[in-house]
Amino acid sequence: MSIDFKPSQPIGIFDSGIGGLTVARAITKLLPNEQIIYFGDTAHMPYGEKSAEAIKNYSIKIADFLKTKNCKMIVIACNTASAAGFKAVVKSTGMKDLIVNVIDPAAAYVVKNHYREKIGVIATKRTIGSNVYAKRIASLDPIADVVQLATPLLAPMIEEGFYNNKISQTIINSYLSKSKLNKINALILGCTHYPLVKNEIQKFYGKSVEVIDTSEIVAQYVKAVLEKHYLLNLTKPSKMILANKAKQFFVSDFTQSFEESSKIFFNEKVKLKQCNIWEDK
Ligand code: DGL
Repeated sequence: MSIDFKPSQPIGIFDSGIGGLTVARAITKLLPNEQIIYFGDTAHMPYGEKSAEAIKNYSIKIADFLKTKNCKMIVIACNTASAAGFKAVVKSTGMKDLIVNVIDPAAAYVVKNHYREKIGVIATKRTIGSNVYAKRIASLDPIADVVQLATPLLAPMIEEGFYNNKISQTIINSYLSKSKLNKINALILGCTHYPLVKNEIQKFYGKSVEVIDTSEIVAQYVKAVLEKHYLLNLTKPSKMILANKAKQFFVSDFTQSFEESSKIFFNEKVKLKQCNIWEDK
C-alpha cells in the first residue's frame, strides 16, 4: 500500500485547535525534513463536549481534506478524536497503518515504563467517557491500576492563552487534588493541549510523579511507522519549500489565539489559512 505514496509527500496533522501543535512541533523537531499540513478545527472546538458521532464525522471530513492535500500519513493529534474517530478514519481513508492516533503510542510507553503501577489519566470528558486509555492499557498490562479524571476546563483555558499564570495554577491544583489521583506513579496528559501546562502540573507533584507529555512519544512512533513503510523523507527541503510549503496551517474558523500560538510554537511567521471544509461541498 505504501507504494502509493512517496517520502516527499507531507504529513497531515489535525486537532480541534492549538493542542495538536504540540505534536506537530515534536514531529518537525524529530523529523526536520518532513513537510506538515496542520488543520485546527477551531469552528468545532472544544471536541471534549461534543458527541462521539459528531467528532467521528468531523474527523472523517478533515482526513478527507488532508488526503486531497496529498498527505502520505495523517496524525490524529487529538485524544478525543483518536478515541471517537480513529477506526472510522482508518476505514474511510483506506490508509491503514498510515493513520496514527495519539493513544496507542502513549499506552505502550506507560506499560513499558510503569508496568503494574498506578497510572492517572487526565483528559476531556469525551476521552474519559470512552474509557479508551483504561482499555488500551489493560490490553497490554491487565494488572495496571488506571484512574481517570475529566478536566474539561483545561483545553478551553489553554486555547484562550491562560497558562503559566495564577488562574491556571489554581484550576490545575484543584483538579489534581481530587482523591482519585492520590498515590499515582505517573500521569498521562491525555489531551494534546495539556503539554502547555506540563510545568504547572509537574510543580504540583514535584518529582514524585512522571508527568507524561505524549507528543514526543507520538513523534517517535510516527518516525517508526514512516521507516517501516519506507516513507521517511531523507532529503533536506529546498529553500523554496522551506519558504512556502514546509509548514501549512489551516483552521476552520480564524482565531487570533491560534495565530499567536502557532508563531510562538514554531518561532517563525505563520500563514494561517481559513478553510471551511463543511461549506465547501
Ligand atoms: N486537544 C484535544 C484532545 O487531545 C481536545 C480539546 C478539545 O476539547 O477540543 O483531546
